[in-house]
Amino acid sequence: MTRIGTPLSPSATRVMLLGAGELGKEVIIALQRLGVEVIAVDRYENAPGHQVAHRAHVIPMTDASALRELVLREKPDLIVPEIEAIATDELARIEAEGIARVIPTARATQLTMNREGIRRLAAEELGLQTSRYAFADSLESLTAAIDGGIGYPCIIKPVMSSSGKGQSLVADASELAKAWDYARSAGRVDQGRVIVEAVVEFDFEITLLTVRSRGGDGNIRTDFCAPVGHRQVKGDYVESWQPQPMSETALDKAREMAAAVTGALGGQGLFGVEFFVRGDEVWFSEVSPRPHDTGLVTLATQWQSEFELHARAILGLPVDTRLRNPGASAVIYGGVEAQGVAFEGVDQALAVPGTDLRLFGKPEAFERRRMGVAVAHGDDIEDCRARAREAAGRVRVVLDN
Ligand SMILES: Nc1ncnc2c1ncn2[C@@H]1O[C@H](COP(=O)(O)OP(=O)(O)OP(=O)(O)O)[C@@H](O)[C@H]1O
Ligand SMILES: [Mg+2]
Repeated sequence: MTRIGTPLSPSATRVMLLGAGELGKEVIIALQRLGVEVIAVDRYENAPGHQVAHRAHVIPMTDASALRELVLREKPDLIVPEIEAIATDELARIEAEGIARVIPTARATQLTMNREGIRRLAAEELGLQTSRYAFADSLESLTAAIDGGIGYPCIIKPVMSSSGKGQSLVADASELAKAWDYARSAGRVDQGRVIVEAVVEFDFEITLLTVRSRGGDGNIRTDFCAPVGHRQVKGDYVESWQPQPMSETALDKAREMAAAVTGALGGQGLFGVEFFVRGDEVWFSEVSPRPHDTGLVTLATQWQSEFELHARAILGLPVDTRLRNPGASAVIYGGVEAQGVAFEGVDQALAVPGTDLRLFGKPEAFERRRMGVAVAHGDDIEDCRARAREAAGRVRVVLDN
C-alpha cells in the first residue's frame, strides 16, 4: 500500500532528483501534483528542475562524498537519477545501507552509465540482437577490432558519453585516427575506452517507453507505450513522433527485448529502450532507466506522459500507458551562446493549430543546447510533424538587449 505524506511536514514523501534538466523538470511537476516533496539537484544554478522543486541544490554529482553528504542531510525516500554522470558506486552504497531507494536500482544506473555494461548484459547475457561490436583501449586495438570483423563503415563512441558526444561515423581506415582522438577527448571519466559498432542499416529507429510498475496484486508488471519514432542529427534527437508505424512482428520482438532488458535491470520506473528496425528485424541499441528525450512527444499524445508514468511507477501507483492520439515533437535549439536569452515568436508558434510549447528556462543558451520543444497533436503523423516543426521554427531565441 502506498502512502503519501504532506510536503514540508514530518510525514512528507521525499524524492530527490539527481539532475534537474528539462526531463527532470517534468518529472518534478508530476510528483508535485501528487503531493510529493521534491529536492532537485544539479551541477549548476537555476537548472530547469530547480525552478519547480521545494528545494534546490548545486553539487558535483560525480563527487561521492558531496552526494552522500547531501543525501544524509535531505533524507529522501527515493533517489531518482535523471542523468548518467553520477557517482553511481556511491548510489549503490546508499542503497545497500538502506538509506534511500535508488530508481530503478543502483545497479541499473551503474550498468547503463557505461556502454560496456549494458551492451554486455543485453548481447552476451540476454542474447538480444545488437550491432556487431567490440571494445578498444588504444588506436592499435581499435584497428585490430575493425579489421578482425566489425568492418567499415562503423561508429566509434566513448564508453561513457551521451547525446552523441565523442561519436564518429567512420567510412574507412583513413578516418580512424581522427575518430579515436575525438572519442578520447569527449568521453567522460574513463577516457581511453571506446565501443566500435558496425553500422546497422535500419529503416527507422524507435524508443519503446517501457514501464515497470506495481500492479493491483502487488507484483511488478511491465507495460509498453506505443513506439516513438525519431530522427537524430549528430547523435542528438531533433524530432520525434508517436506512434511509429511498424510490423506486428517487429513490435512483438521489440517488446520482448524491452521486457528482458528492463527485467534484468529491475526496480520500478519508466525506461527508454532504443531499437533499430528494418522490416521485421529489430536490433537493441541502448536503454535509459528514466524518461527519454524523444519521449517528450508523450506530453501531447498519451493520457499519461512518460513523466507522469515515471512518477507513478516509482511511487508504486498504477499506470496507464495508452495512446490518446498521434503527435510529434520538434526541438528548439539555442542557436546563440548567451545568458538570459529571450524567446520571441511564442505567440506565432502557439497560433499553429493543435500545438503546445515547453520552454525549459535554462539560464544559458548554447548553439546546440535544447532550450525548448514544440509538440503537436492530431490524427496524422506527417501532419503532426509538420506542425511541430512549424511551431518550433517560429520561436526565435534572441539576446535580451
Ligand atoms: N550501430 C549503429 N548503427 C546505426 N546507427 C547508429 C548506431 N549506433 C548509433 N547510431 C545512431 O546514432 C544515434 C546515437 O547513438 P546512441 O544512442 O548510441 O548515442 P547516445 O550518445 O547515447 O545518444 P543519446 O544519449 O542521445 O541517446 C542513434 O540514435 C542512431 O541514430
Ligand atoms: Mg541513444
